[in-house]
Amino acid sequence: MVATQPLPTTPIVDVATVFDVLRVPAGVYAPQDDSRLLLTAMAERDLVTGRRVLDLCSGSGILAIGAALLGADEVVAFDISAPAVACAIDNATVCGVEIDAREGSLPEALALGPYDVVVSNPPYVPDSNALPPKVGLSRAWHGGHDGRSLLDPLCLVAPDLLSDEGTMLLVQSEFADVERSLMMLRAGGLHARVVERLRIPFGPVLTANARWLEAVGMLESGRRHEELCVIRADKSAGSDT
Ligand SMILES: C[S@@+](CC[C@H](N)C(=O)[O-])C[C@H]1O[C@@H](n2cnc3c(N)ncnc32)[C@H](O)[C@@H]1O
Repeated sequence: MVATQPLPTTPIVDVATVFDVLRVPAGVYAPQDDSRLLLTAMAERDLVTGRRVLDLCSGSGILAIGAALLGADEVVAFDISAPAVACAIDNATVCGVEIDAREGSLPEALALGPYDVVVSNPPYVPDSNALPPKVGLSRAWHGGHDGRSLLDPLCLVAPDLLSDEGTMLLVQSEFADVERSLMMLRAGGLHARVVERLRIPFGPVLTANARWLEAVGMLESGRRHEELCVIRADKSAGSDT
């Protein structure tokens, strides 16, 4: 008689390969440079092992799943888009991890807080058009005229989201005023600084807005690259290792 090994019920995935296995339907934000930059920042710092993590603006679930793969004790994920929440749940199953993905935003996240680690890749692209009222794919990147429609409220409540030794990692573009994020986080008593930077060429959305950004003085004439920044904000100065 030949002994057979039972097949694994879930594919074996680690944080380095998670990008390759995610399934992202049309209408949900497919992970991009900002997602990768934040995932790498989280993985390199060993912040999440054994900790309670919030992924706000979870999209496909890439960061929530990454945190779970890195050994987080519990991962809560919120997104305003119902298809994104369904996508994150499906992807967590594919990756063989558990996440608690829910439809919602800051108020719902605050109600379940505090968290040891908060990661967020919020919409932050400044756009000449007003913020679309309906939830749809454009809300994944559209940050209002100044790019700060969610960055401002998030920076304001960050101290309330975090536990006493908590840390937030937040990614945004230089065009959404990194200094303002730092200033708001510090005003809330957090120790905040930029820990990662990445220069990338303009994608389709910034390309479409480039002339307007030049006209309003947010972009030097002819420049077509942006810098992404990961901001780290710690509640306690001692957490910043
Ligand atoms: C840039 S995508 C990031 C997705 C994913 N975390 C990643 O890194 O690839 C931003 C996500 O935020 C969601 N979103 C937009 N406004 C939101 C809000 N006010 N509250 C919660 N989620 C929001 C969008 O639906 C979208 O899935």
